[in-house]
Amino acid sequence: MIYLTANEISMPILGLGTYKIKSFDLCYNVVENALKYGYRMFDTAQVYKNEEDLGKSFEIILPKLNLKREDIFIITKIATYNHADKCYESIKKSMENLRTKYIDMVLIHWPGVKGFKLDDKRNLEYRIKTYKELERAYTEGLIRSIGISNYNLKHLEELFTYCTIKPVLLQSEFHPLLIQNDLTNFCKKHGMIFQAYSSLGTSDAESTKKLVDNETIKNIAKKHGKTSAQILLKWAVQQNISVIPKSSQVSHLRDNIDIFDFNLDEQDVDLINKLDRNLHLCWNPDTVL
Ligand SMILES: NC(=O)c1ccc[n+]([C@@H]2O[C@H](COP(=O)([O-])OP(=O)(O)OC[C@H]3O[C@@H](n4cnc5c(N)ncnc54)[C@H](OP(=O)(O)O)[C@@H]3O)[C@@H](O)[C@H]2O)c1
Repeated sequence: MIYLTANEISMPILGLGTYKIKSFDLCYNVVENALKYGYRMFDTAQVYKNEEDLGKSFEIILPKLNLKREDIFIITKIATYNHADKCYESIKKSMENLRTKYIDMVLIHWPGVKGFKLDDKRNLEYRIKTYKELERAYTEGLIRSIGISNYNLKHLEELFTYCTIKPVLLQSEFHPLLIQNDLTNFCKKHGMIFQAYSSLGTSDAESTKKLVDNETIKNIAKKHGKTSAQILLKWAVQQNISVIPKSSQVSHLRDNIDIFDFNLDEQDVDLINKLDRNLHLCWNPDTVL
C-alpha cells in the first residue's frame, strides 16, 4: 500500500467508501473482509447513517485481527444539517457513534447548508463558522486533521482567506469523464491530498456501467489482464490521487485493492485522459454561492 502525506498526516492512498453500506450485518461483513484484504482507511459521513454500525464493527473486528485503532484511518463528514453552531456537538456524536477517542479526518461534506437556497449568502457565513469549529476540534485533539469536500475553486480560494489551519485534503468527484485539473492543480500547489470519489461511476448501476463498460477502459483492462474497475482506480492512484471505491461484494473488495502490481503506460494514460467530458455523475457544487 502506498501512503500519502500532507501536513504530517499520513494516510493510505486507497480506502473503502461506505455510502449505502447500511445494516450492522452488512457493515460487519464488509469491514471484516476489507481489513483482511488490507484496507486501512474508511470513508463515512454523518449523512450515511452508518457510523454506529462501523464503530461497532471496528470494536469487535480490530482485536479479532490483532489490529489496533491506530492501524486504521477514519474519515467522516459534517452533514449539511450540522453546519456552524451544530458542528462541534456533531463531531462528538460521530466520535461516540464510531466508538473512538479521536477521528483521523473530518471533512465539510458540502459547501451549502440544508434549508438554504443555493444562492443564499448565508452559505458562506455558515461554512466559515463550520470551519472554525473544526479548527477548535483539531486544537482540542478531537480530530487529527481537517478537510473539505465538494468545494470548487471559488470555495477553496475563499477558504484560504479565512482558515488558520490549512485543510489537508479535498474530496471531490473524479473519474475519466470528469478530470478536475483546476482542483488537482490547486491541491498540488498547496500541498494538499486530492481524494477522488465515485471513481467507478457512483453507486448508481447505470452510471457505473458508463465507466466499467467504456470500450477504451475495457481494452486497456484486457491488455493488462485486469478488470475495468482496476484500471479506473490505478489511473487515479498513479497520479497520487487517493481513491475510496465502495463495494459490498467480497470479489470486488479483493479486486479493488489488487492494483499495486502493474502500471499503466503513457499511451494508456493518454487514451483515458481523452475521455474527459467535464461530466458530473454525482453532484455539481458550482451552483452553491
Ligand atoms: N463527498 C461526497 O459528496 C461523496 C459523494 C459520493 C461518494 N462519496 C464517497 O466515495 C465512495 C465511493 O463512491 P460511490 O459510492 O459514489 O461509488 P463508486 O465507488 O464509484 O462505485 C460503487 C459502485 O461500483 C460497484 N463496484 C465496486 N467494485 C466494483 C468492481 N470491482 N467491478 C464492478 N463494479 C464494482 C459497487 O457495487 P457492489 O457494492 O455490488 O460491489 C457500487 O455499485 C462512497 O462510498 C463514499 O464513501 C463521497
